[in-house]
Amino acid sequence: MIQIAPSLLSADFANLQRDVEMLNASEAAMLHLDVMDGVFVPNISFGFPVMKAISAYARKPLDAHLMIVDPQRYISQVRDCGCAIMTVHAEACTHLHRVIQQIRDAGMKASVALNPATPLVMIEEVIADLDMVLLMSVNPGFGGQKFITATLDKTRRLRKMIKSTGSHAEIQVDGGVNLTTAPQLSEAGADILVAGSFVFNSLDPADTIHRLSIV
Ligand code: DX5
Ligand code: ZN
Repeated sequence: MIQIAPSLLSADFANLQRDVEMLNASEAAMLHLDVMDGVFVPNISFGFPVMKAISAYARKPLDAHLMIVDPQRYISQVRDCGCAIMTVHAEACTHLHRVIQQIRDAGMKASVALNPATPLVMIEEVIADLDMVLLMSVNPGFGGQKFITATLDKTRRLRKMIKSTGSHAEIQVDGGVNLTTAPQLSEAGADILVAGSFVFNSLDPADTIHRLSIV
Protein backbone atom coordinates (compact mmCIF):
# COMPACT_ATOMS: atom_id res chain seq x y z
CA MET A 1 0.00 0.00 0.00
CA ILE A 2 1.28 3.46 -0.91
CA GLN A 3 0.13 6.60 0.90
CA ILE A 4 -1.88 9.12 -1.12
CA ALA A 5 -1.74 12.86 -0.43
CA PRO A 6 -4.48 14.59 -2.46
CA SER A 7 -3.51 18.17 -3.40
CA LEU A 8 -6.19 20.75 -2.58
CA LEU A 9 -4.78 22.86 -5.45
CA SER A 10 -7.21 21.01 -7.73
CA ALA A 11 -10.16 21.16 -5.29
CA ASP A 12 -13.17 23.41 -5.85
CA PHE A 13 -12.11 26.56 -3.95
CA ALA A 14 -15.74 27.69 -3.76
CA ASN A 15 -16.60 24.41 -1.99
CA LEU A 16 -13.52 23.72 0.11
CA GLN A 17 -15.43 22.47 3.17
CA ARG A 18 -17.27 19.93 1.02
CA ASP A 19 -14.03 18.73 -0.59
CA VAL A 20 -12.18 18.50 2.75
CA GLU A 21 -15.03 16.46 4.22
CA MET A 22 -14.95 14.17 1.18
CA LEU A 23 -11.20 13.65 1.81
CA ASN A 24 -11.82 13.04 5.55
CA ALA A 25 -14.02 10.10 4.56
CA SER A 26 -11.52 8.81 1.98
CA GLU A 27 -8.34 6.73 2.32
CA ALA A 28 -6.15 9.83 1.89
CA ALA A 29 -3.12 9.66 4.22
CA MET A 30 -2.78 13.45 4.48
CA LEU A 31 -3.97 16.63 2.79
CA HIS A 32 -1.34 18.34 0.60
CA LEU A 33 -1.47 22.16 0.65
CA ASP A 34 0.40 23.92 -2.18
CA VAL A 35 1.41 27.46 -1.20
CA MET A 36 2.77 29.60 -4.07
CA ASP A 37 4.10 33.16 -3.94
CA GLY A 38 4.35 34.20 -7.60
CA VAL A 39 8.14 34.59 -7.17
CA PHE A 40 9.62 31.13 -6.57
CA VAL A 41 7.02 29.80 -9.01
CA PRO A 42 5.07 31.78 -11.63
CA ASN A 43 1.70 31.13 -9.99
CA ILE A 44 -0.05 32.29 -6.79
CA SER A 45 -2.32 29.80 -5.00
CA PHE A 46 -3.49 30.46 -1.42
CA GLY A 47 -2.05 31.38 1.96
CA PHE A 48 -2.60 31.18 5.70
CA PRO A 49 -6.24 32.32 6.00
CA VAL A 50 -7.30 29.59 3.58
CA MET A 51 -5.08 26.99 5.30
CA LYS A 52 -6.67 27.91 8.65
CA ALA A 53 -10.13 27.50 7.15
CA ILE A 54 -9.14 24.05 5.82
CA SER A 55 -7.67 23.01 9.19
CA ALA A 56 -10.99 23.74 10.90
CA TYR A 57 -12.55 20.83 8.97
CA ALA A 58 -9.59 18.54 8.18
CA ARG A 59 -9.38 15.25 10.10
CA LYS A 60 -6.18 14.17 8.33
CA PRO A 61 -2.64 15.53 8.85
CA LEU A 62 -1.93 18.71 6.87
CA ASP A 63 1.13 18.53 4.62
CA ALA A 64 2.27 22.06 3.62
CA HIS A 65 4.37 22.40 0.44
CA LEU A 66 5.86 25.90 0.44
CA MET A 67 6.76 27.03 -3.08
CA ILE A 68 7.94 30.42 -1.82
CA VAL A 69 11.28 32.18 -1.40
CA ASP A 70 12.78 32.27 2.12
CA PRO A 71 10.11 30.00 3.67
CA GLN A 72 11.80 30.31 7.11
CA ARG A 73 9.89 33.61 7.47
CA TYR A 74 6.65 31.68 7.92
CA ILE A 75 7.48 28.61 10.04
CA SER A 76 5.36 29.70 13.03
CA GLN A 77 2.40 30.65 10.80
CA VAL A 78 2.50 27.25 9.10
CA ARG A 79 2.56 25.56 12.51
CA ASP A 80 -0.30 27.77 13.75
CA CYS A 81 -2.37 26.60 10.77
CA GLY A 82 -2.16 23.11 12.26
CA CYS A 83 0.27 21.66 9.71
CA ALA A 84 2.04 18.42 10.69
CA ILE A 85 4.60 18.48 7.86
CA MET A 86 6.36 21.52 6.38
CA THR A 87 8.18 21.11 3.07
CA VAL A 88 10.59 23.81 1.90
CA HIS A 89 12.46 23.88 -1.41
CA ALA A 90 16.25 23.42 -1.27
CA GLU A 91 16.44 26.00 -4.08
CA ALA A 92 14.61 28.58 -1.91
CA CYS A 93 16.76 28.35 1.27
CA THR A 94 20.26 29.81 1.63
CA HIS A 95 20.69 28.20 5.07
CA LEU A 96 18.85 24.93 4.59
CA HIS A 97 20.34 23.20 7.64
CA ARG A 98 19.08 25.97 9.95
CA VAL A 99 15.61 25.99 8.38
CA ILE A 100 15.26 22.23 8.93
CA GLN A 101 16.17 22.61 12.62
CA GLN A 102 13.69 25.49 12.99
CA ILE A 103 10.86 23.42 11.47
CA ARG A 104 11.62 20.56 13.88
CA ASP A 105 11.88 22.96 16.84
CA ALA A 106 8.43 24.26 15.89
CA GLY A 107 7.11 20.71 16.35
CA MET A 108 6.55 19.80 12.70
CA LYS A 109 8.04 17.11 10.50
CA ALA A 110 10.78 18.62 8.32
CA SER A 111 10.80 17.96 4.60
CA VAL A 112 12.84 19.29 1.67
CA ALA A 113 11.66 19.43 -1.95
CA LEU A 114 13.87 19.23 -5.03
CA ASN A 115 12.87 20.57 -8.44
CA PRO A 116 13.31 18.19 -11.41
CA ALA A 117 16.63 19.85 -12.37
CA THR A 118 18.05 19.83 -8.81
CA PRO A 119 20.36 16.89 -8.04
CA LEU A 120 20.01 14.68 -4.95
CA VAL A 121 23.41 15.84 -3.72
CA MET A 122 21.70 19.06 -2.53
CA ILE A 123 20.24 17.16 0.45
CA GLU A 124 23.09 14.71 1.09
CA GLU A 125 24.44 16.65 4.11
CA VAL A 126 21.03 16.98 5.81
CA ILE A 127 19.33 13.70 4.94
CA ALA A 128 19.73 12.37 8.51
CA ASP A 129 17.65 15.27 9.86
CA LEU A 130 14.79 14.90 7.37
CA ASP A 131 11.44 13.24 7.94
CA MET A 132 10.55 13.42 4.25
CA VAL A 133 12.05 14.29 0.87
CA LEU A 134 9.71 15.58 -1.84
CA LEU A 135 10.81 14.89 -5.41
CA MET A 136 9.05 17.16 -7.89
CA SER A 137 8.07 15.13 -10.96
CA VAL A 138 6.89 18.29 -12.77
CA ASN A 139 8.22 21.84 -12.60
CA PRO A 140 6.31 23.36 -9.67
CA GLY A 141 3.61 25.98 -10.11
CA PHE A 142 0.68 24.28 -11.77
CA GLY A 143 -1.49 21.20 -11.51
CA GLY A 144 -2.20 18.96 -14.47
CA GLN A 145 1.29 18.78 -15.99
CA LYS A 146 2.93 15.76 -17.59
CA PHE A 147 5.03 13.45 -15.39
CA ILE A 148 8.80 13.73 -15.99
CA THR A 149 9.95 10.13 -16.45
CA ALA A 150 13.49 10.74 -15.14
CA THR A 151 11.89 11.00 -11.66
CA LEU A 152 11.69 7.19 -11.56
CA ASP A 153 15.48 6.78 -11.60
CA LYS A 154 15.86 9.71 -9.19
CA THR A 155 13.45 7.97 -6.79
CA ARG A 156 15.50 4.75 -6.98
CA ARG A 157 18.72 6.65 -6.27
CA LEU A 158 17.11 8.52 -3.35
CA ARG A 159 15.88 5.21 -1.92
CA LYS A 160 19.50 3.94 -2.03
CA MET A 161 20.80 7.16 -0.40
CA ILE A 162 18.26 6.84 2.42
CA LYS A 163 19.17 3.20 2.98
CA SER A 164 22.93 3.76 2.94
CA THR A 165 22.75 6.73 5.35
CA GLY A 166 20.28 5.11 7.76
CA SER A 167 17.90 8.06 7.35
CA HIS A 168 14.25 7.53 8.29
CA ALA A 169 13.05 10.01 5.63
CA GLU A 170 10.01 9.04 3.59
CA ILE A 171 9.94 9.71 -0.15
CA GLN A 172 7.08 11.82 -1.50
CA VAL A 173 6.66 12.37 -5.25
CA ASP A 174 4.58 15.29 -6.53
CA GLY A 175 3.23 15.96 -10.03
CA GLY A 176 1.64 13.99 -12.83
CA VAL A 177 0.59 11.09 -10.61
CA ASN A 178 -2.08 8.88 -12.18
CA LEU A 179 -2.87 5.17 -12.48
CA THR A 180 -0.02 4.74 -15.00
CA THR A 181 2.73 6.54 -13.08
CA ALA A 182 1.67 5.48 -9.54
CA PRO A 183 2.67 1.79 -9.93
CA GLN A 184 5.98 2.84 -11.51
CA LEU A 185 6.71 5.16 -8.57
CA SER A 186 5.70 2.52 -6.07
CA GLU A 187 8.09 0.05 -7.69
CA ALA A 188 10.86 2.69 -7.65
CA GLY A 189 10.51 3.09 -3.88
CA ALA A 190 8.19 6.06 -3.27
CA ASP A 191 6.24 6.09 0.03
CA ILE A 192 3.76 8.92 -0.58
CA LEU A 193 2.24 10.14 -3.84
CA VAL A 194 0.72 13.61 -4.21
CA ALA A 195 -2.18 13.64 -6.65
CA GLY A 196 -4.17 16.73 -7.61
CA SER A 197 -5.91 16.87 -10.96
CA PHE A 198 -6.16 13.08 -11.39
CA VAL A 199 -8.14 12.84 -8.14
CA PHE A 200 -10.31 15.93 -8.39
CA ASN A 201 -11.07 15.67 -12.12
CA SER A 202 -12.29 12.10 -11.68
CA LEU A 203 -15.97 11.20 -11.29
CA ASP A 204 -15.44 9.64 -7.86
CA PRO A 205 -12.38 11.22 -6.13
CA ALA A 206 -12.58 8.94 -3.05
CA ASP A 207 -12.59 5.85 -5.25
CA THR A 208 -9.68 7.26 -7.29
CA ILE A 209 -7.70 7.72 -4.05
CA HIS A 210 -8.46 4.10 -3.16
CA ARG A 211 -7.38 2.86 -6.59
CA LEU A 212 -4.12 4.87 -6.43
CA SER A 213 -3.33 3.50 -2.99
CA ILE A 214 -3.49 -0.17 -4.04
CA VAL A 215 -1.30 0.02 -7.16
C1 DX5 B 1 2.61 21.58 -8.41
C2 DX5 B 1 2.14 21.17 -7.03
C3 DX5 B 1 1.45 19.87 -7.02
C4 DX5 B 1 0.22 19.82 -7.87
C5 DX5 B 1 0.16 18.45 -8.47
O1 DX5 B 1 3.41 22.69 -8.34
O2 DX5 B 1 3.23 21.09 -6.13
O3 DX5 B 1 1.18 19.43 -5.69
O4 DX5 B 1 -0.97 20.09 -7.18
O5 DX5 B 1 -0.86 18.44 -9.40
P1 DX5 B 1 -1.09 17.22 -10.39
O6 DX5 B 1 -1.32 16.01 -9.55
O7 DX5 B 1 -2.30 17.66 -11.15
O8 DX5 B 1 0.15 17.10 -11.24
ZN1 ZN C 1 2.83 20.11 -4.11
